[in-house]
Amino acid sequence: MHTPQFKTVGIVGTGAMGRGIAQIAAQAGSAVLLFDTQPAAIAQAREALAVQWDKLAAKGRIDAAQAANYKAARQAAASLADLSGCDLIVEAIVERLDVKQALFAELEGIVAPGAVLATNTSSLSVTAIAAGLKRPQQFAGYHFFNPVPLMKVVEVIAGLKTAPAVRDALTAYARQMGHTPVQAADTPGFIVNHAGRGYGTEALRIVSEGVADFATIDRILKDQVGFKLGPFELFDLTALDVSHPVMESIYRQYYDEPRYRPSVITAQRLAGGVVGKKRGEGFYRYVDGAAQVPPEPPVPQVDAIPPVWVSTRAARRAELYQLLKDLGAKIETGPSPSLQALTLVAPLGFDITTVAVVERLDPARTIGIDMLMDDQATRRRVLATNPATRSDMRNAAHALFAKDGKAVSVIRDSGGFVTQRMVAHIVNIAADICQQRICSPQDLETAVTLGLGYPVGPLALGNQLGPANVLEVLFNMQTVYGDPRYRPSPWLRRRGAIGLSLLHEED
Ligand code: NAI
Repeated sequence: MHTPQFKTVGIVGTGAMGRGIAQIAAQAGSAVLLFDTQPAAIAQAREALAVQWDKLAAKGRIDAAQAANYKAARQAAASLADLSGCDLIVEAIVERLDVKQALFAELEGIVAPGAVLATNTSSLSVTAIAAGLKRPQQFAGYHFFNPVPLMKVVEVIAGLKTAPAVRDALTAYARQMGHTPVQAADTPGFIVNHAGRGYGTEALRIVSEGVADFATIDRILKDQVGFKLGPFELFDLTALDVSHPVMESIYRQYYDEPRYRPSVITAQRLAGGVVGKKRGEGFYRYVDGAAQVPPEPPVPQVDAIPPVWVSTRAARRAELYQLLKDLGAKIETGPSPSLQALTLVAPLGFDITTVAVVERLDPARTIGIDMLMDDQATRRRVLATNPATRSDMRNAAHALFAKDGKAVSVIRDSGGFVTQRMVAHIVNIAADICQQRICSPQDLETAVTLGLGYPVGPLALGNQLGPANVLEVLFNMQTVYGDPRYRPSPWLRRRGAIGLSLLHEED
């Protein structure tokens, strides 16, 4: 076995995070000393670690000798002074700046000058925690995710004064612990909690506009993009008492950057105690732990489907034609729709009403379909009405696009469909993280796929859909909403404009 980068590791704060970090440190071959102000927490952590290793041994993942070695490697420390021989100390105590600052000031007087001190903070500034230290160059952020042994990514955060050698040693040690390190500049939310801002806030915005309900938005994002959890399922799991303050904190720390603006919906639900699964009620109600998901609206019964005319400016027009043919639609090919025709538009970022007016189409017969994603790559189609759309046209379109058994959601008109808005927002925030040089594009992709469980990294998603298409959605949404929230990051504008791969261009 390799010699661990750090031979003796102290863990201060042995709650959920501390014990997880202790586990992987011991498995990397380090001796681990556990300290907590609550002696019972140390005893519980030691016991929980023993149980973990026994379980791994029972599953055959480690052998009995290894389990015994790991158990012997983790010991209790009676006081902070007992950590004097550690060459690394990782802190996972209460998330308070003053308490963390006091702890590190004390630890600095106990350890050798070459020892590394690290904080597992998720929301405080690493630079601020190090502000009073005599050796801030020996200090860094080491942000793990819960549960530590399963969430295989760690953000290594250099504060203003962190020595590059310290950052690199923590990076190398993360690999020895079996984790994937990513390096982040000390900025609010670092990488994962910053990149994650797009998902919840834009979904809340869509709901607040009455475009679609929670369950429909969750269905669309899971079926069209492949997210494991919809944004409202995720809110319920994390619970709003955790996620709403994070949304507010990142928004404020970036001096009210509109892209991260939180929503009154979660503020009100938090105030009302409707926080999520753990309380039995969040966006969904839970019975015996199972979400009560409202049923999908049924596909309407329609006797005859009218002929269909497709706008000449529709996105993926050729694919849309093919799809209509496959569904057995009667297609009109004239320069304008007949008086009976169901009129299909497929805008990027624009609302259906605007398109009907600009293209001089009869709004009563005009329906939109989201063609940003390749239809073959999705499990759901999304249609949008405008306020004038006649119900017979709406029903005919719903029935037509459901003919091959694929799920269909019909939403109300808004600038951009659900997926367009969400994806454009996520890609734009990711692009801005690159623009700000918070991390490398590659580390961004790694951090988001491992830390947030997205099906692909946000930049790869932007590449798949075409940076120019994502940009078009944002430009048009900016026109519809006049909201700087949808202002494209310069990083994305450059790539969208010249069509370069998002990942390979250094600029
Ligand atoms: P926890 O509440 O399970 O454990 C914290 C432990 O620290 C407790 O055992 C407590 O007795 C001890 N403690 C508090 N003040 C102390 C002090 N001054 N000296 C020594 N021990 C002290 O909390 P958890 O969830 O393990 O989180 C700990 C830290 O990790 C927080 O800073 C949090 O922001 C960060 N974090 C938490 C994540 C999570 O999902 N829970 C994810 C990433 C980071």
